[in-house]
Amino acid sequence: MTEFYYMDGKYVEAEKAFIPVRTHAFLYGTAVFEGIRAYWNEEEKQLYAFRVPEHYERLIRSGKIMYMENPHTVEEYCKITQELLKKNGYKQDAYMRPTLYKSAQKVGPGLYDNPDSFMIIVNKMGDYIDTSKGLKVCVSSWRRNSDNAIPPRAKVAGSYANAALIKTDAHNAGFDDAVVLDEQGNVTEGSAMNLFLVFGNKLVTTTKADNILVGITRNTVMELAKDLGLEVEERNVDRTELYIADEAFYCGTGAQISPIVSIDNRKLGAGVVGPIAKELQNLYFDVVRGKVPKYKKWCMPVY
Ligand SMILES: Cc1ncc(COP(=O)(O)O)c(C=O)c1O
Repeated sequence: MTEFYYMDGKYVEAEKAFIPVRTHAFLYGTAVFEGIRAYWNEEEKQLYAFRVPEHYERLIRSGKIMYMENPHTVEEYCKITQELLKKNGYKQDAYMRPTLYKSAQKVGPGLYDNPDSFMIIVNKMGDYIDTSKGLKVCVSSWRRNSDNAIPPRAKVAGSYANAALIKTDAHNAGFDDAVVLDEQGNVTEGSAMNLFLVFGNKLVTTTKADNILVGITRNTVMELAKDLGLEVEERNVDRTELYIADEAFYCGTGAQISPIVSIDNRKLGAGVVGPIAKELQNLYFDVVRGKVPKYKKWCMPVY
């Protein structure tokens, strides 16, 4: 079946969706983007897109940092997203990548005299990381770009060169992913996901000012943690705290909730998926599929 993308006001067949080779965003990484998941609910025969307005609110903030004008309001973006999913007729989990980008056909990094374009590509998607067995990760020798270099708060395409180096070197060293420190040596997050540590009944995560992308899943986890009677602490995290946590997990739209079982070859707890990460993961998977009435407000029905 033909898949459709959305490009500057039109629904375009995927095979016909191209951008010119001189496009500024391609030459300089000057695009901001979002990753949004939609989950199929088999009992209801319904596709639910998760926390869509929050993603577009962040896209607008990312655009603001990068001198980009958003062509649509959050409400319009949500409508387009719903329409695109419907047009693709998905009856299974899917992933969307809305991208706002600089589309001048020019050489030179300036963001001025440089129009903005908007597109959404979409595909069917299951797990991006195997969330069941637990990840073995390392501390990366790469550092996260700082707020005064390429701000991690903005989801800028060019900054994913940093994530690419982190992920690739972790993979080549035999690890599933990595934890990334900033230039001061403080913990930030994973290659492309946020990080939580578990100490007893408490979740600990880095603050919004610790050179992280402020994740929507991070916020979801904080809300769900309350329901499970867990305390949440946002604070600076030292590297060595990674080694003594009872449990740890990544979270993100792509990563969902991915438990970590070892860091730099040191086992966390018993070296197996921990009970708190597991409980949060189970609840999360119910929430995203629209199975928890309290959180149905986060799930946008497509059909
Ligand atoms: C660098 C980075 N941090 C964190 C996240 C998690 O963000 P969210 O939960 O909004 O998907 C992502 C994924 O989008 C990311 O790329």
